[in-house]
Amino acid sequence: MLTLPELPKQKKLKSIAVLTSGGDAPGMNAAIRAVVRYALSQGVEVYGVTKGYSGLLEGQIHPLNASSVANIIQRGGTILKTDRCEAFFKKSVRKEAANILRRKGIEGLVVIGGDGSFTGAHLMQKENNFPCIGIPGTIDNDIAGTEDTIGFDTAVNTAIDAIDRIRDTASSHDRIFLVEVMGRSSGWIAVQTGIGGGAETVLVPEHKESLPEIVESINRGVQRGKTSSIIVVAEGHKPGLSQRIADGLSAQGFSPKVCILGHTQRGGTPTAHDRMMASVMGAAAVGYLIGGKSASMVGIQSGKLVLVPFSKVIGKKKDLDPSNLYLAQILAT
Ligand code: F6P
Repeated sequence: MLTLPELPKQKKLKSIAVLTSGGDAPGMNAAIRAVVRYALSQGVEVYGVTKGYSGLLEGQIHPLNASSVANIIQRGGTILKTDRCEAFFKKSVRKEAANILRRKGIEGLVVIGGDGSFTGAHLMQKENNFPCIGIPGTIDNDIAGTEDTIGFDTAVNTAIDAIDRIRDTASSHDRIFLVEVMGRSSGWIAVQTGIGGGAETVLVPEHKESLPEIVESINRGVQRGKTSSIIVVAEGHKPGLSQRIADGLSAQGFSPKVCILGHTQRGGTPTAHDRMMASVMGAAAVGYLIGGKSASMVGIQSGKLVLVPFSKVIGKKKDLDPSNLYLAQILAT
């Protein structure tokens, strides 16, 4: 079970802010709640920044109290709203952001997001000596330095629930279905959805399969008496890959159906796992930040909460677990 680690005893900061950035993920609200309530329990003031770095630059910064985060732990999305902020790539913009925070008396920032969000935080810290701590929040589970990210478990559960429903109609009609799941450059959602949903084939960006190989796997199933099959496809860089594969299969005489789950995986009520992890991460992020730690992300390693320097996270690829992929493949046969 995930537990709160021992946190620094000293309190160096009196006022911090929290923002969410990049794609939203179920469980982000649980993390915001934990940040706010843990900070208040330590006598630290806490501000919420609306709409990520874009809102920060517009000065959308408001004090939060315990009631501001009441009744949100069960809600998907993020009450702070989020954004992908191109302007934050500029050094001068990051300097302005640090100044805006300082003018409000804010001494540290918690950033809940993914790799791009941490890059912004890391640079703002380095260039302006402004303390930042990251919390990994993305359904993709593609952040290096942590085994898990907030929202991944919920997204996989949502996708498995969809597959269970699709299987009912697929087997009633003896059909092949291509179910496309999210995962920009990683197959984590696809592989775990494939294993948990009992998919016949799992296609991930890390291990490209050709059309003849896909046809061969369908035919293997047919020879064993299968009359329907579910092929889970990770969207990769360009959503719609499942339709392109379906077109190829149609040209070979199959009549596949396509179901793109898309943003349904980003919303919805977070699972117990994501709520618990987000709560521990939120509290730990504040404990480390006010205790003087910075330029790091809270992450999970060997099932325990750890602090990982941004330098070991940003721009690093987190490989798909090969044993997961292997399992998905052998169970699918
Ligand atoms: O990074 C999370 C993610 O949901 C990816 O899986 C997906 O490719 C992308 O965001 C979609 O981004 P947007 O919501 O901006 O279309």
